[in-house]
Amino acid sequence: MNGGLLDGLRIVVTGANRGLGAALVADARKAGAQVVGTYRVEPPAGPSEVHWVRMDLGVDDAVERGFAEAAERLGGIDAVVANAGVSYNSLLAAADMRDVESSLLVNVGGYVRTLKYAVPHLRSADGGSVVAVSSVMAGGGMPGAGVYSGTKAAIEAITRTAAAELARFGVRVNAVAPGFFDTGMGRAVMDDTRMFERYSSRIPMRRFGSADELSSAVQFLLSPMSTYVTGAVLGVDGGVRL
Ligand SMILES: NC(=O)c1ccc[n+]([C@@H]2O[C@H](COP(=O)([O-])OP(=O)(O)OC[C@H]3O[C@@H](n4cnc5c(N)ncnc54)[C@H](OP(=O)(O)O)[C@@H]3O)[C@@H](O)[C@H]2O)c1
Repeated sequence: MNGGLLDGLRIVVTGANRGLGAALVADARKAGAQVVGTYRVEPPAGPSEVHWVRMDLGVDDAVERGFAEAAERLGGIDAVVANAGVSYNSLLAAADMRDVESSLLVNVGGYVRTLKYAVPHLRSADGGSVVAVSSVMAGGGMPGAGVYSGTKAAIEAITRTAAAELARFGVRVNAVAPGFFDTGMGRAVMDDTRMFERYSSRIPMRRFGSADELSSAVQFLLSPMSTYVTGAVLGVDGGVRL
């Protein structure tokens, strides 16, 4: 990892109790940041150098309170990784509307709440940055992933709008669009040999990504290495979108 790349930064990562979010907080710590990870139900067990704050991204008050608590714990917030997300697999003809509502509530509403309640803290810290976790699925077209794809396309559109609205306050807003990873949601695909072979044969680099490869891309966008980058969506996908 990039030791020291995030030195001195105070970062909040949402949905950090498991999956890619857990790796993002651990790697951000190693790169020198002070980190708050958010959880919805239970914080991870065991000792940790990470501060834990409860936040359900679907509940307005909880997000407002969560960012206020995170700012208090860290003495301010310089950057946020909007990582939390849900995914339901279903053909559109069979869509369960509760899953559709939940996807919109968490993936789209949760991102808007994150921007709404985190940005005042970034502005009072004199700028800063937000990195949203989208997906290569934002492009659409994969049977069964229609609603998930729609929420990720919304995240990318909101990212570009937020970048335009917030540039004058010194706040940069970018997104990463992961392809298939060996952690979190991608793990179930990897564990199914037939699905794994089908998916990896479509990836030009012929393998799934590892969590630290996503961390590196996120850290670039959080760090002083990208001070003139805003409104960008960085594909981290082994070329699968090509
Ligand atoms: N893994 C991949 O291959 C892949 C590929 C492309 C994009 N992504 C994106 O990467 C991000 C992380 O995914 P992952 O693979 O690590 O998935 P994951 O293992 O399912 O983790 C999702 C995280 O989001 C949290 N979350 C869900 N609903 C929430 C809510 N209402 N409020 C607060 N937190 C909530 C979960 O908390 P709980 O434990 O409480 O449910 C969990 O911490 C997601 O945005 C996903 O769409 C992943």
